[in-house]
Amino acid sequence: MVVLGIETSCDETAVALVDEARRVRAEAVLSQIADHAPYGGVVPEIAARAHLDHLDGLISRVMTQAGARFADLDAVAATAGPGLIGGLIVGTTMAKALAAATGKRFLAINHLEGHALSARLGADVEFPYLLLLVSGGHCQLLAVEGVGRYVRLGTTLDDAAGEAFDKTAKLLGLPFPGGPAVERAALGRNPARFPLPRPMRGRPGCDFSFSGLKTAVRHAVAALPPGPPMAADVGDLCAAFQQAVGDVMVDRTANALAMFRARHGEPTTLVAAGGVAANLYLRLRLEALASDKAVRLAVPPQKYCTDNGAMIAWAGIERLRVGLADDADAKPRPRWPLDPISSGAAPSVLPS
Ligand code: KG4
Ligand code: ZN
Repeated sequence: MVVLGIETSCDETAVALVDEARRVRAEAVLSQIADHAPYGGVVPEIAARAHLDHLDGLISRVMTQAGARFADLDAVAATAGPGLIGGLIVGTTMAKALAAATGKRFLAINHLEGHALSARLGADVEFPYLLLLVSGGHCQLLAVEGVGRYVRLGTTLDDAAGEAFDKTAKLLGLPFPGGPAVERAALGRNPARFPLPRPMRGRPGCDFSFSGLKTAVRHAVAALPPGPPMAADVGDLCAAFQQAVGDVMVDRTANALAMFRARHGEPTTLVAAGGVAANLYLRLRLEALASDKAVRLAVPPQKYCTDNGAMIAWAGIERLRVGLADDADAKPRPRWPLDPISSGAAPSVLPS
């Protein structure tokens, strides 16, 4: 089985060709960071235009690199949500057109399902597992029972984890995206110099909250001497912030493991996915938790933590394997929760 995956939900145009043997035959990612940098955030219209300008070129490049023809494909998969509507329309329209023109199946992929299954692209990870999904738009703990079967155990009450990294970076004058910049600045710095809160730590359940932490960073920045902050202050604050996020993440995930156990029996695997899971400090913290709780930690390679086409193609393969496909009526959905409980509706799937 070979699937072409298209990801255009935010500010990365990404395409990949993946097969059932978990081989990424070719892939391409075009980041729009430079296009949005002058505006200090992602501008939806600029993002949609950039996807439109580059998507066909990326698809040709990936097909050529893989030495593949459209006739070799089993399906074309595109992210159909959640995300920015302009980009979702560009990606799904392209995928539907390609599928229709070549007589292949079309798959409307939930971006979060792409992240959720991404660990299975690189390793043998059996269902069910506990998933910590931490990205720029989401921060959730879910029980993954199987393809298309997700039960949300906890979520953020305000900001997503990646958003907290991005806002902290902005407060400190670091570039977007904030996560990698904060991680770099924190390397070798002193996390104990600035006391920051650990929101939700010790509370029952496994919800998150990051807005108080962000406010504490803002107060700490305001208390620094006037003028641009010194590199040492920035580094120490980043280290303190990252440690606070790590403490909260470990506490919440430990509770989620207990919640998972009550529902599904002894968990064997903890998966961390999404852009924030690329953070090596946080990976170490989760590694320590996993070893303490006698579960295995599975994290995709760094390039498959942040948005990419391979995870969309892979989610397509997983869905095809269980007999799921979509038709050309499937609409892009800017909001699209992963678990049917919170969306209040069954997933939009048709048997193929
Ligand atoms: O999964 P992703 O690429 O896009 C979304 O689906 O949102 O995640 C992007 C988020 C951004 O907020 C970015 O700052 C964060 O992931 N991120 C990181 C790191 N790399 C990316 N956060 C912390 N540490 C990193 N190394
Ligand atoms: Zn993402």
